Amino acid sequence: MGGLLATAALIGGAPTLTLLALAAMGELRAGPAALAILLCLASALGLAWFWLSAVSRLAAVLHRAADEEGPFSAPLPIPRLPAIGRVEEGLGRLARSLEARAALVTRLRASDEAIVEALPDPLLILGADRRLLRANAAARRVFGLQREGAARGDMGALLRHPLMAAALDRALVDDGPQSTELALPGSLTRELSAQVLALNPPLADGGKLLVVLTDRTAARAVERMRVDFVANASHELRTPLASIIGFIETLRGPAKDDPVAQDRFLGIMAEQSERMRRLIDDLLGLSRVEITEHQAPEGKADLLALLQAEAAALEPLFAGRGVHLTLALPEGPLTAAPANADQLAQVARNLLDNALRHATREVRLEAGHGRQGAREGVTFTVRDDGPGIAREHIPRLTERFYRVDKARARGVGNTGLGLAIVKHILARHRGQLTIESEMGLGSTFKVWVPGE
Ligand SMILES: Nc1ncnc2c1ncn2[C@@H]1O[C@H](COP(=O)(O)OP(=O)(O)OP(=O)(O)O)[C@@H](O)[C@H]1O
Ligand SMILES: [Mg+2]
Repeated sequence: MGGLLATAALIGGAPTLTLLALAAMGELRAGPAALAILLCLASALGLAWFWLSAVSRLAAVLHRAADEEGPFSAPLPIPRLPAIGRVEEGLGRLARSLEARAALVTRLRASDEAIVEALPDPLLILGADRRLLRANAAARRVFGLQREGAARGDMGALLRHPLMAAALDRALVDDGPQSTELALPGSLTRELSAQVLALNPPLADGGKLLVVLTDRTAARAVERMRVDFVANASHELRTPLASIIGFIETLRGPAKDDPVAQDRFLGIMAEQSERMRRLIDDLLGLSRVEITEHQAPEGKADLLALLQAEAAALEPLFAGRGVHLTLALPEGPLTAAPANADQLAQVARNLLDNALRHATREVRLEAGHGRQGAREGVTFTVRDDGPGIAREHIPRLTERFYRVDKARARGVGNTGLGLAIVKHILARHRGQLTIESEMGLGSTFKVWVPGE
């Protein structure tokens, strides 16, 4: 209101004062002078109102345009002054083109974001201070981050890794992409290849370093598996094969006409062939487990059912050796999850098979719930009353081909791969194997896997 009166006074003040002065000097009669003053004030008020409303509307449009709030243009509810109308029209056009440009920028930003999100490889954006600003969906999946997650756990370890830190340093100093290969230790070692690129100029959110990661764990596992398989297979097959070749030569030569010797040699040859078959089966089984080791299992396994099934399947072997198998299983459900039931059954089979071979009179199979730190899980334990294992051997039992008593183990026809397979299956399940043994008193193999 104050503004309106002041503007009206500015417009109508001078003519009104002139009319008043003329009337005072007697140049104008009082009646016409009063009418003229009234008209002058009324038109000044009207003009001031039109002017002020038009200006305040222009101001509002300008404010919204400056704050990028839109919509920038709206219909004018009052008649326009001609000159102001043209200004308003120009401003409207400017506002509409700003609006269109802002919408385009939003769309482009959304599509950039969508492309980055959809990339199959983990991608990180860091500030110049190495702080994590953004991680795409693949990176969040690999490192288990929340959407706005800070660099914790594996991600923190990655960014602090000396090779990674060096690559980030180089990227900030040199132009051009920097790359590095690194292994992230953890429950499962992850092998990553990282490309680092400095962003010049930095992104609007302060992003200065772009890191693209490629997970090479699976590829490396397959590579190593192939090399190990060839080395192990050729090494372990050489002895039985040499012995078979030797016997064939003997059968063709010196033992040609000796049916008793022939019979004995054929028996040994059959045994050696069987040993080679077992070896190949176990090596292939181990390779299969190793290939899937870095992928967490899916699904659930009914631990009680699978332990009962394995115990039942081995019952004749136990009976044959005169060893008693005692089951101490709980009543309620015992579910391992996430877990692969076939692989857990193989763990149970390998441990029961070892216990059976070493036990004197009895093997006990127990199961139950158990915690590992903060993690809920299920356990099962295979206990035998055999000769036990000397302390120094225990840490090495899960190495492939490791046998405590090589001569005796070879005689029985075992390959020394059973516990190596157990170790890899449990690594895949993020589980644990604990071995306790006392000489002369027997051994205990305890398995823990995550569960409900
Ligand atoms: N319950 C046990 N008591 C005593 N020693 C054991 C027991 N279980 C395993 N061992 C020792 O650990 C070694 C490695 O076991 P592992 O199961 O890996 O191989 P293996 O039984 O010899 O052969 P495979 O299981 O491949 O047929 C065995 O050779 C044996 O010396
Ligand atoms: Mg075994």
